[in-house]
Amino acid sequence: MQGQVRIKIHSAGEVERIEREHVRLERFLNDLGETCREFSSKQDCSGCERGTQACCQGRLTSFFYDFLDLVAEHIENEEAIIGRYLANADDSRYFKQHQEAHGLIMGELRRLMEEAVGISKHGQTAEAIRRLHQKISHIFGSHARDYDDHFREIA
Ligand SMILES: [Fe+2]
Ligand SMILES: [Fe+2]
Repeated sequence: MQGQVRIKIHSAGEVERIEREHVRLERFLNDLGETCREFSSKQDCSGCERGTQACCQGRLTSFFYDFLDLVAEHIENEEAIIGRYLANADDSRYFKQHQEAHGLIMGELRRLMEEAVGISKHGQTAEAIRRLHQKISHIFGSHARDYDDHFREIA
């Protein structure tokens, strides 16, 4: 992002709240990874029994809805907090860019999750979970670097 602006948040409590939510999202994503026994081995689902495979598939589907809800809730909280600290026009432009980035993330997450459920339905749940985990981690990492990291500073 060009022309980054540091948003100064005047309340440690609010910074902590945003941070807590980021940690919670990360934990939620890592929990999904831990569902799969083969997450790190890069093997497919052939070593798991049918019951286990069905369980992982169900877990992926429920992750789909729960994670989208959590991200939407976080975005709402984050935007409400940042919105309270806009001091000048530059901050406001930055805020609009940040909001647009959030909108793009929601669309991208939906697309990735639908893709993952599709891959899982073809019996490749391990691959679906790995790919989803990797892509979401990447999206969140870039977003943090471009936007969220810049309002940690407390005035
Ligand atoms: Fe965030
Ligand atoms: Fe953000």
